[in-house]
Amino acid sequence: MSTIQVHNLRKVFPNGHEALKDLSFSIAPGTLVSIIGRSGAGKSTLLRCLNGILTATSGTIRINDIEVTAASPQERRELRRRIGFVYQEYNLVDRSTAFRNVLAGRLGQMPGLQSVLGVFPQADRMIALSCLDRVQLLHKAGQRADRLSGGEKQRVAIARALAQQPWLILADEPVASLDPELAHEVMRFLRAAATDTGLPVLVNIHDVALAQEYSDRIIGIAEGLVAFDGPPAELTRDVLRRVYRRDPRTLVGAEHMTPQSALALGGSLGDVAN
Ligand SMILES: Nc1ncnc2c1ncn2[C@@H]1O[C@H](COP(=O)(O)OP(=O)(O)OP(=O)(O)O)[C@@H](O)[C@H]1O
Ligand SMILES: [Mg+2]
Repeated sequence: MSTIQVHNLRKVFPNGHEALKDLSFSIAPGTLVSIIGRSGAGKSTLLRCLNGILTATSGTIRINDIEVTAASPQERRELRRRIGFVYQEYNLVDRSTAFRNVLAGRLGQMPGLQSVLGVFPQADRMIALSCLDRVQLLHKAGQRADRLSGGEKQRVAIARALAQQPWLILADEPVASLDPELAHEVMRFLRAAATDTGLPVLVNIHDVALAQEYSDRIIGIAEGLVAFDGPPAELTRDVLRRVYRRDPRTLVGAEHMTPQSALALGGSLGDVAN
């Protein structure tokens, strides 16, 4: 059973922006943890560090006893195969069927030639079908992805992630494009991925009420730091204020910026001064 352990994680982008300052937490198998925080707090940066798209500046991430931050190329490949990622915009192949999209989750586990030819063994087909069944979409297996509703698309994306037989699932705002009813439905299936499959599931989410309803635990990030880490019941108004507060120093990055101050910041904004 996998655990995720993050220790003193820091991420500074090449332009000098420190998106993650110092994050530490661990996530046990079978738990759904929601990450909340205002826009720009560093939620997506955290998930991208976890799945290895971004390299941490310092600190450590351990997934299933592989240290992501010091992984060999082979370990990195294995990790990528074993991390199910669910995106806000589904990332399905529109012209392929729901079944084919889920089957794509098996690609990482197949030998090179078979995956190039797109020839899937019977066992992989069975895995794909059972994953579709788990999101209650077996009856839509043959339907083209672009003819599915938003909620169904996201359930196919969850099934595809499950078909990877992943060590964990990361979801970056998986319900942001859905109406409230479908959002509940998708959260229920993510919840089931944690409870029934015993996976750690990490969800970036803006809807605090949904986070409270479906999570075992909530981590609030503010300005690249953990501002809250605890059960939903402890997420009081005061705590929320702390999580969603704005550091006065960042105001110059938003509505308080004028063309003059942008010019004065020069290099740190890229090439506006040149
Ligand atoms: N490649 C990059 N280079 C420089 N800065 C970046 C880069 N990616 C993200 N940032 C900055 O890092 C900060 C955190 O971004 P991130 O996308 O993690 O925020 P977020 O919490 O996911 O926000 P949202 O809720 O809007 O999705 C933001 O200020 C963003 O502009
Ligand atoms: Mg984001």
